[in-house]
Amino acid sequence: MKVLVVGGGGREHALAWRLAQSARVQAVYVAPGNGGTALDPALRNLPLTGIEALADFAAAEKIALTVVGPEAPLAAGIVDRFRARGLRIFGPTRAAARLESSKAFAKEFMQRHGIPTALYASFDDAAAAHAHVERHGAPIVVKADGLAAGKGVVVAATPAEAHAAIDELLAPGAPGGARIVVEEFMAGEEASFIVLSDGRDVVPLASSQDHKRIFEGDRGPNTGGMGAYSPAPVVTPNVHARVMQEIIRPAIDGMAREGTPFTGFLYAGLMIDAQGRPRTVEFNCRLGDPEAQVLLMRLKSDLAELLAGAADGALGEPELQWDRRIALGVVMAAAGYPAAARSGDPITGLPAAAEDLQVFHAGSALHDGVLHTSGGRVLCVTALGDSARIAQGRALAAVRGIRFEGAQWRNDIGQRAIGRH
Ligand code: AMP
Ligand code: GLY
Repeated sequence: MKVLVVGGGGREHALAWRLAQSARVQAVYVAPGNGGTALDPALRNLPLTGIEALADFAAAEKIALTVVGPEAPLAAGIVDRFRARGLRIFGPTRAAARLESSKAFAKEFMQRHGIPTALYASFDDAAAAHAHVERHGAPIVVKADGLAAGKGVVVAATPAEAHAAIDELLAPGAPGGARIVVEEFMAGEEASFIVLSDGRDVVPLASSQDHKRIFEGDRGPNTGGMGAYSPAPVVTPNVHARVMQEIIRPAIDGMAREGTPFTGFLYAGLMIDAQGRPRTVEFNCRLGDPEAQVLLMRLKSDLAELLAGAADGALGEPELQWDRRIALGVVMAAAGYPAAARSGDPITGLPAAAEDLQVFHAGSALHDGVLHTSGGRVLCVTALGDSARIAQGRALAAVRGIRFEGAQWRNDIGQRAIGRH
C-alpha cells in the first residue's frame, strides 16, 4: 500500500521511517517532511499542507492510509474531512482531539469520568484569576487553554510568578487564546503513557519519559522536549495496571459513550507520586515528540498493519513486540531555542545510520543538496543500548560529531533511568 504521513517534525520522520519498513508498504510520502525525510531514499517529501490539498493528493494517488503526526491538523478536522471523502486516515476526529486542543474540555471530561488529575478552575477574566491565586497561594500552575506548542504553561513557585503568568497569558493576542486554566501543583515524577486505540480496543505502547526543560538538571524554560528514553522505570507493572484501569480505560470508554470515540494515539502525560499513584497532567491526541522517536526505534510489530487496523475499527488486542534494549534520544536544538531559534546554518557530520543509531530530523531542510537548520528542534539523535548508560553514551558520541552553529543539547538525557540502576 501507499502511505501518507502528515507533518514535518522528528515524530513524523520516525513514523515514516518505521512505516517504510513494513513489507506491505510500497511508498511513503511525507507532507511537508523535512531535510531528513528528503535525504532518505525510501521516503518522498510533498510540498503540501492544506487539508483539502492533502485529501486531493490522497484520492488521486490512491493512498491506502494517511497517518497524522501533529495536533494542529487534527484539531482543524483533517480526519473528519478525509473520512467524509471516503479516505482511510488514522487519527482522532476534531471532536475527539479536544482532549488536547481544549484544556477546559479535558479537565471537565476527566471530572465527568472520575479520571485522577489536579484540581483546577478556568478563567477568562484576569481579576478572578488573580483572586484565585491569592486564595490558594503557590506553588500553582497557570496554563493557556488552547494549543500553545508546549509553551503555554507556567509552573509558578511564588504567587508573584503566578500573577505575572496570568497577565501574560490573558494579554490580547497571546498564543492559546483568551482563556486560562489555573490548577493545583502536583509533585512527583512525570512519564508519558501512550496507547493506540480504534475507539474501543486499546493497545498500550511502551512507557517513555520526556525532558521538557531546556537546560541540564531540568532547569530553564519548557520546550517541546529536549530528549526522551523508553522504557521509563517509574512505570512499574503496578503503575502500568493503575494507569490502564484509572486513566486510559475510562478515557476511551468515556469518549465512546459521549459519542466522540477516540481513534488514534492517546497520550496521557502522567505525574506519579511517591506512593506510585498516577494522575493525569494532560492528554495529547497524538504521539509525543521526541517520545515517538524512541518508541518507534524499539517497536518491532508492523506499524502499517496496526494503524490500518485501528483506522478500520478492527485493532483487536494484539501483543506488541518491542526491542528489549533501551532507546534514548538526544535533541539537538538551534541557537536561541525555545525563544527565537536561528535558522539557515549548515549541518555537517551526520553519522551513518546503524541498526542501533538513527538521526531523526525535525527543523532541517535540504536546499540544492545542502542540509541546513530551519527550526527550533533540529535533530533527535536516537540510540539503542543494553542499558540507559550505554544508549546515552552512543547517542552523545554521535551528537558530538554533528556540527551546526550554536547547537544546544542536554548531556543528561536518561539520567533518572541511569540513577536507578
Ligand atoms: P502541559 O503542557 O500541560 O503538559 O504542561 C507542561 C509541563 O508543566 C508538564 O510536563 C509538567 O512538567 C508541568 N505541569 C503542568 N501541570 C502541572 C501540575 N498541575 N503540577 C505540576 N506540574 C505541572
Ligand atoms: N514531548 C511532549 C509532547 O509531545 O507533547
